[in-house]
Amino acid sequence: MKDAFGLPQSLLVLGGTSEIALATARRLIARRTRTVWLAGRPSPGLDEAAAHLRDLGAEVRTVAFDALDPDAHEDALGKVFAEGDVDMVLLAFGTLGDQAHDERDPGAAVRVAQTNYTGAVSAGLVCASALQTQGHGSLVVLSSVAGERARRANFIYGSSKAGLDAFAQGLGDALHGTGVHVMVVRPGFVRTRMTAGLPEAPLATTPEAVAAAVELGLRRRAETVWVPGTLRVVMSALRHLPRGVFRRLPV
Ligand SMILES: NC(=O)c1ccc[n+]([C@@H]2O[C@H](COP(=O)([O-])OP(=O)(O)OC[C@H]3O[C@@H](n4cnc5c(N)ncnc54)[C@H](OP(=O)(O)O)[C@@H]3O)[C@@H](O)[C@H]2O)c1
Repeated sequence: MKDAFGLPQSLLVLGGTSEIALATARRLIARRTRTVWLAGRPSPGLDEAAAHLRDLGAEVRTVAFDALDPDAHEDALGKVFAEGDVDMVLLAFGTLGDQAHDERDPGAAVRVAQTNYTGAVSAGLVCASALQTQGHGSLVVLSSVAGERARRANFIYGSSKAGLDAFAQGLGDALHGTGVHVMVVRPGFVRTRMTAGLPEAPLATTPEAVAAAVELGLRRRAETVWVPGTLRVVMSALRHLPRGVFRRLPV
């Protein structure tokens, strides 16, 4: 169960090698999280991530999970919930793709959309239903500012995040009053392997800063979290710029 401050004792990470998710897990283990499930594509990286969190004192297990295989989600995630209550699910998987390449390769673009959007619709619904059966828990979804307004430079990724964000908001409304809390997290540019080698955007931040914002959001039972918080104002202005002006911005 969560403590009086809304922090989880048990955590399920979807996308178990995500740098943002692992920074969040480390932070929560330092508070009160004792059990962690890392769901992800089996790899040495997933095992290393589990071993590292074990060294911090948590009981950690891994489970095979592929966002691109929605038919297997019910079984894979059902196994986790069958082992005991999960206080928090962190939906962290995602892929940036390669916009220039993917515009010429529709199959690759579809894989970005299927990972980030339809994979999340499937896994999100499976987890939401299990959390509802428990009667408590938080589903924390890593969306992105990229979903706020599609940019020329990454509209394939951005559109998939827009879909994910809208889905998570609607799910949060559907679960309102059930005891299950959905929190949409919208980071800007975060320095992780996902953005390695890309020119840094203004207000760039770190996985640790996202983790801190997630903790604060849980304590406040927030529905939306921007990281850094100033992006809420910046994006509200950008969202309303006329198309012709927005198109000319170097973003
Ligand atoms: N970095 C940023 O600037 C930024 C900003 C805003 C939002 N976000 C979002 O935050 C989340 C975490 O990103 P990150 O920066 O921590 O990136 P990351 O370290 O590259 O993590 C991405 C995660 O997604 C997993 N993944 C990719 N395809 C998958 C699939 N088909 N099935 C299961 N797992 C899959 C990866 O697993 P493998 O190890 O198997 O590849 C990895 O665990 C993503 O949703 C990302 O879109 C990131």
